[in-house]
Amino acid sequence: MEIIVCPTPEEVGRRAADSVLAALPDDRDPVLGLATGSSPLGLYRELGRAVSEGRADFSSAYGFALDEYVGLPPGHPQGYHQVLLREVSETVGLPPDRLNVPDGSGRTLAELTAGARAYEERIRTVGGVDVQILGIGANGHLGFNEPGSALTSRTRVKRLAARTRTDNARFFETIEDVPTHCVTQGLGTILDARRLVLVATGSAKAHAIAAAAEGPLTASVPASILQWHADTVLVLDEDAAQLL
Ligand code: GLP
Repeated sequence: MEIIVCPTPEEVGRRAADSVLAALPDDRDPVLGLATGSSPLGLYRELGRAVSEGRADFSSAYGFALDEYVGLPPGHPQGYHQVLLREVSETVGLPPDRLNVPDGSGRTLAELTAGARAYEERIRTVGGVDVQILGIGANGHLGFNEPGSALTSRTRVKRLAARTRTDNARFFETIEDVPTHCVTQGLGTILDARRLVLVATGSAKAHAIAAAAEGPLTASVPASILQWHADTVLVLDEDAAQLL
């Protein structure tokens, strides 16, 4: 595992973008795995800068989101499809029709599960993810793989942890408006990506980062699977790295 500790959040974005760009193929359409949350925003801005300076081109790239809420009305501004259209497609010029997001609109478990299987199939069809961009939850979650998630899990429906709903309540009017369930890529799905680039800033992430990078490999800390991947890059600020 490569760990890069940066003095400023801007530098975190730059170094993370460099790690992403270095792993993209130039002989076929690149496939990006996309995380939501505030952590990767600086990285997306830097990728946008690389496009405007002619150092990168995502016009034939595919994007695959890590996760989506279940049950939000179509077009809801906090649905991850809308978030990624705003924060990634527009910023880096990834065509909206190449942005794939798990389908959280199914009304039954069977419908949602069928959608999750189709999502895995779609990732396989384009040849797998070249670089998976990741944030980390304060409880060590990856995507919405909460503590206790199976280490080999695939895309599926999950219930959100109480801590995650509280953390994400800032995006909704009240905590009751935060969905209770999601569809998320599994830890096994994430491990299939050829490179993992995780971005974390701030002391609220320090415990999760120390447990993920230096603790035991355990389902209690889903991000500890990063230790199992042969090409993982952690890009941190000094606050997030303080317990390493
Ligand atoms: C959500 C997302 C995760 C993300 C996490 C951390 O729960 N599903 O993929 O890593 O938030 O978000 P932030 O970067 O805003 O702390």
